Amino acid sequence: MNAPQDAAKLLVHYRGLRQWIEKVEGMGELLKVDGASWDAEMGAITHMLTEKSGGTAPAILFDNVPGYPSGFRTLYGELSSIKRIALTLGLPLEHGRKVDVVKQYHDRMRNLKPIAPRWVNDGPILQNVLEGDAVDVLKFPVPRHHEADKARFIGTADCVMTQDPDAGWFNLGAYRSQVYDARRIGCQITEGKHGRVHRDKYFERGQSMKVVILVGQDPLLFLLSGSPLPEGSELDIAGGMRGEPLDVVRGPYTGFPIPADCEIAIEGECVPGEVLPEGPFGEWMGYYSDDSVPRPYVNVKTILYRNNPILCCAPQHKPVDETGLLKGIAGAAEIWRSLEACGVPDVLGVWNHEGAPATRFTVVQIRQRYPGHARQALHIAAACQGGAYNGKWTVVVDDDIDAGDIDQVLWAMGTRFDPISGIDTIQKAWSSKRDPMYLPGNFNNRVLIDACMPYNMKLAGTFPKVVDVSSNLRSALRVKFPQVFAGR
Ligand SMILES: Cc1cc2nc3c(=O)[nH]c(=O)nc-3n(C[C@H](O)[C@H](O)[C@H](O)COP(=O)(O)O)c2cc1C
Repeated sequence: MNAPQDAAKLLVHYRGLRQWIEKVEGMGELLKVDGASWDAEMGAITHMLTEKSGGTAPAILFDNVPGYPSGFRTLYGELSSIKRIALTLGLPLEHGRKVDVVKQYHDRMRNLKPIAPRWVNDGPILQNVLEGDAVDVLKFPVPRHHEADKARFIGTADCVMTQDPDAGWFNLGAYRSQVYDARRIGCQITEGKHGRVHRDKYFERGQSMKVVILVGQDPLLFLLSGSPLPEGSELDIAGGMRGEPLDVVRGPYTGFPIPADCEIAIEGECVPGEVLPEGPFGEWMGYYSDDSVPRPYVNVKTILYRNNPILCCAPQHKPVDETGLLKGIAGAAEIWRSLEACGVPDVLGVWNHEGAPATRFTVVQIRQRYPGHARQALHIAAACQGGAYNGKWTVVVDDDIDAGDIDQVLWAMGTRFDPISGIDTIQKAWSSKRDPMYLPGNFNNRVLIDACMPYNMKLAGTFPKVVDVSSNLRSALRVKFPQVFAGR
């Protein structure tokens, strides 16, 4: 995996959302639905197809939305199958365990050389440019995603581009965006996120902040925007993953680099002191936990869009939702990177469980090498940048337990964990109102579970032997009784 020729094979080969959709259709993973309403129907259909799909739900392309011209489409569930995430990241489509995809992605990122975007003068995104009185974000079939949402949200599977006022780099983060009217939209950025740090810096200086919100774009950009990557532009990382720069045009209002082949880009600015009530919105933890709160909004100045644009959507809800795998793979890879950067040896797997969801239940799989190894991995996984935000349960398991297999993890917790000595807690950790157990003062508490065999017993070989079928007998039986195991 680390050899240069392997890295070359792992480049992202499709270009832009439209080619990605063609490939997904070729894989048999695209569902086209005509006639669903923007008012809760598209969100509910996606919810119902995803909640029990076990990572096999289709991507859904909605067209002929009542009240909108044919061709003005929405795309839901981009990343709700492992195969589509692998396609998006340029990884092999077939895999054994879920954590194998995390490992491949982690290896890829470890060797990645970012490539800065290339400025071009033209691109499909300039096919339509709305300015002045023509600006209207409801020109697109913007959904009210959940039945109890009070507003339509144009930004869910989005990329909010902000520029650091000191260092000048461009961040992309997925932050939700409510519609107030034709020219005002929200931008809910939680404390500590890069976009929030940028905005706080501008506002502390009494300055407005320019912003570009991509609401239809290459799924790779959305995946990177929704991942807790370290400082540095996601545009450059996407270039590195493709092995060539992204073509970008200069935003007419902001001057920001806008991907030339994206679908819809909204330019605007946030003004210090200008706030509107934002939310409620069906949240990623599965609750309406965040009431309506006054938050800064975006004054929209320009809208750029392609002919027959596709608005990308990713509302979240009670698990399993369409972003569970994104957080399982991209979020877990970030925790793996931190464990490695802190020198923790023999990490064999990391998985953020879709049902929890995400960092609410993170499992790290290690081959124990020394006393205290398990506890070291636990604390770093729970406190590193990729694991710290809104964590709840962090569990460490042995090498024979597949971190991505919840049955095996529960077995380890049920049989290798001691409730007195195997548990640590962290108090006053990084949280947000999305957490229904959010504590006054903006914190949450969390629990670390050591579900590894006690190291001294493992070393002495005194931990009871596991009841299992040996790999030799498994292989022999598969050969001897092919009809029994066909397709299993
Ligand atoms: C579909 C989706 C919606 C999200 N919505 C928000 C949001 O509204 N506000 C927020 O602060 N983070 C939200 N996140 C999480 C951030 O995108 C994520 O923490 C990311 O790391 C932020 O980028 P940053 O690290 O560059 O700040 C969302 C993630 C996804 C996948």
